[in-house]
Amino acid sequence: MRASVLLSALAAAAANAAYPGDIVNYWVEQTSLLVNGTVIGGLQSPPSAWYVAVVTGAIYEAAVKSKKESLAYQQLAVSHAAHNAIVWVFHGTRNYNGADASLRAVLPAIGLAANTTEGKSAIETGRKAAKKVALARADDGINNYVAYTHGPKELGVYQATPGGNPFPDVPQAQFIRPFGGFGDITRFRSPPPPPITSKDYEEAVIYVKEYGGLNSTARTAYDTDTAYFWRESSITGWNRFASVIIGNKFATKVVESAKFWAQLNFALANAGIASWDVKYTYDAWRPITALHRTDIWLPSGLNVSDPSWTPLLRPTPSHQDYVSTHSTFGGAAAAVLRVWNGGDEIDATWSSNVTIDNRGVITRRFTSLKFAAEENSRSRVFGGVSSCFLHCRVLHRGKKGHNAN
Ligand SMILES: *[C@@H]1O[C@H](CO)[C@@H](O)[C@H](O)[C@H]1NC(C)=O
Ligand SMILES: *[C@@H]1O[C@H](CO)[C@@H](O)[C@H](O)[C@H]1NC(C)=O
Ligand SMILES: *[C@@H]1O[C@H](CO)[C@@H](O)[C@H](O)[C@H]1NC(C)=O
Ligand SMILES: *[C@@H]1O[C@H](CO)[C@@H](O)[C@H](O)[C@H]1NC(C)=O
Ligand SMILES: *[C@@H]1O[C@H](CO)[C@@H](O)[C@H](O)[C@H]1NC(C)=O
Repeated sequence: MRASVLLSALAAAAANAAYPGDIVNYWVEQTSLLVNGTVIGGLQSPPSAWYVAVVTGAIYEAAVKSKKESLAYQQLAVSHAAHNAIVWVFHGTRNYNGADASLRAVLPAIGLAANTTEGKSAIETGRKAAKKVALARADDGINNYVAYTHGPKELGVYQATPGGNPFPDVPQAQFIRPFGGFGDITRFRSPPPPPITSKDYEEAVIYVKEYGGLNSTARTAYDTDTAYFWRESSITGWNRFASVIIGNKFATKVVESAKFWAQLNFALANAGIASWDVKYTYDAWRPITALHRTDIWLPSGLNVSDPSWTPLLRPTPSHQDYVSTHSTFGGAAAAVLRVWNGGDEIDATWSSNVTIDNRGVITRRFTSLKFAAEENSRSRVFGGVSSCFLHCRVLHRGKKGHNAN
């Protein structure tokens, strides 16, 4: 008698237990781990943003559908939604084991058995949510072949860069249907970059030659690290930074957490689509193409040619210089974070494990989201892969909002 009372008390305790952390954050982290660990060479920026937007979209749908249920129910629903969305995205890769392992690892903590009525219902809710998102995104354009023809080898026109692909990456990404019912992405199109014959352009190309070269003597050690620190995928990066900033405050509020992570990742995905629209509209060459020309082409008559010039970050990414996706992703992520953080001010320390040039882990502390996004942007100039437009030289002078360690 006593034993059975004890057993049912234990069972009740187990049923009420739940994963102690933020389940949505857990799954966002798993998506990054799965991309880092199993997709050879990583994913290009727009598809990697698309991927996390699909997963967080499925999570949000599951969270909303289960919002009246127990915390464990919501967590189980969200977990199955995330699992199925990940597997849907990665058909054709080896990610089945990885996605299964991520789910298996979190189930005991959630503690809602799959063979109970509640458990079965939660699983079904999660699976339906993943299916709904998969169906909604099945014709969003990411799978389409879009032809790209190289422009003439004229001043300013994009050309394949040393060590890169013969054609620029994922031209279809400019046409992906935006997330969140955003409508026509071209209304966010940036103005054109400065004309090649302008003083602004001349300043920009001289600056990147001087500050972005592999063996630059102008760039400080700190700014070399800036290029390295922000080098990783902006998607895995900003999601990790977001978890430092937001922490565990939504651990028991699954719908709110799901809304935050979906907004962040929808914004990142839309930023990727919008920047691809800009890139393919202006088809702007990369600094390395400008600097490797052997003729004198600047109207001032200055000879900037250096056929052996090599950027710090190698190879140059296989897509057009303008507009920088690192800049766009940083701007978008910071804007969403500012809303959820209740302002620009932060006190957040985060690390990036640099996988090139034996640099290893760099840790930085940031006190301003705006500063972090701007540094993210400048990092591409110090890396020698982007031109310094839009006042980055001015920003470079003030280092407010930052502490290095
Ligand atoms: C559910 O599964 C567990 C272990 O897998 C088992 O111990 C339990 O008896 C099952 N409960 C029901 C209701 O089938
Ligand atoms: C410009 O500089 C490059 C690299 O130093 C050199 O090879 C080239 O001959 C120069 N061009 C002219 C016209 O002087
Ligand atoms: C940069 O420096 C390294 C070693 O100091 C040297 O091997 C390399 O040729 C240099 N590269 C360029 C592009 O100057
Ligand atoms: C993914 O890789 C980057 C770059 O190496 C690293 O900084 C980051 O910590 C990794 N993310 C996860 C979740 O392991
Ligand atoms: C950083 O990445 C390297 C290479 O992937 C790995 O060997 C190392 O353990 C990582 N360091 C940390 C602290 O995660």
